[in-house]
This record gives sequence, structure tokens and C-alpha cells, in this order.
Amino acid sequence: MSRKSFTAILRMFAPVSCAMAENILSVLDLCEHPNPAKGEKKACATSVESMVELAAFVLGTRDLRTFPSSPSVPVEGRAGSKAYRMATVTAITGTGDTMTCHGAAFPCKVFVCHALVPTRVYSVALESDDDGVEEEEEEKVEALVVYHLNTSEFDPEKMPPNVKPGEAPVCHFLNRDDILWAPAATTLGEQGAYRSRPVVAA
Ligand SMILES: *[C@@H]1O[C@H](CO)[C@@H](O)[C@H](O)[C@H]1NC(C)=O
Repeated sequence: MSRKSFTAILRMFAPVSCAMAENILSVLDLCEHPNPAKGEKKACATSVESMVELAAFVLGTRDLRTFPSSPSVPVEGRAGSKAYRMATVTAITGTGDTMTCHGAAFPCKVFVCHALVPTRVYSVALESDDDGVEEEEEEKVEALVVYHLNTSEFDPEKMPPNVKPGEAPVCHFLNRDDILWAPAATTLGEQGAYRSRPVVAA
């Protein structure tokens, strides 16, 4: 996963659109130079096995749980704009370390994983009464939310408007392509749609 392999990868997946070629190049750059923020751990995983190894290394345990996004979460960029209200909020981990892997725009599965600790994770049920929604859009969404407790090393650009890094914790929703990893010791048991999946790593 480096710029050196760009032409070989283009050949492997040819024909490739210009947009996909740009995505491939930016993912290769990101994987070659992850540029983690201070205190952040960041790396790419190109297989499930390497994601497990990375999670074990970053979280310091092989007793892990994964939390994939529920199928009710819309794919990024494919959801219409719609008002939701939070129906229920359930904590699924206590305060501790977690690692999130974001699916990257690449012709095969590549995940950009990072850990910015400490966090707490919630499962949030969102409901919409919006009329005029398209058929395939869900009225109810079960989404994972990562709550970053210490934002002092955050990029100021990534903070909400009028909040400086370190002033307040921030929460963000996870997308459909995201996979969250947590040590079994910090997860709070079975939580509805988010049944944690035990991982057995050799
Ligand atoms: C937040 O992180 C910074 C830098 O990593 C550290 O100096 C500070 O003590 C932390 N704050 C809390 C409340 O833990």
C-alpha cells in the first residue's frame, strides 16, 4: 500500500475511472503516510486478519469485540437529507480505548483504522417522521456513536463550530462501512441490534 504500486494496482483493476484512480492514489498516500495526530494511532488494514492483529496491538489485548454498523445505517452519500430524533441512547462500552476502521474508497477492501483515546461508545436509535421519504430509506436507524472524551489534540478544523480543541468532548456517528473494535473488558454486554462478535485470534 504505497504510491510505488499505483500503476500496478491500476493495471490489476483496469479499466478504472479517473475518479477511482484519484481515490486509489489518495488511499495509497494515506496508507503510506498515515500522519497520526499526537496521541493517535493510525494504520491501514487490507485483510480481516491484519485488522485483528492491528486491533490486538493498538488495544493491547486479544480478547476483542467488534461492532459493525447496522444495515439500517445508510451508505455515506446515498441518504437523502432527513430530520431524525434520537429515540434511545444506550452505552455499549465503558470509558476506555477503542479502534475504528473506516472502509476506504478502493477497488478491494481496505480499511483505514485509527484510535484516538479515551472514548465511550453508544448505540443510538434514530427515528424520522419525515414525509416524502424514498421507499428504500429507513424510518428507523440504529447507529453507533463514538464519544471522544479528550479532544485536546484534535485538528481544530474537525471540531464543531465555535468549539476549540480540548474545550468539550465530541461525538460522531459511524457510517455503514465502519467497524468498531473494543476490548471485551470495556464492553457492556449484549445490546439489542449490536450483538458484539467475539473474535478468536490465533
Ligand atoms: C487530554 O490529553 C492531553 C494531551 O494528550 C493531556 O495533557 C491532558 O491531561 C488530557 N486531559 C484529560 C482531562 O485527561
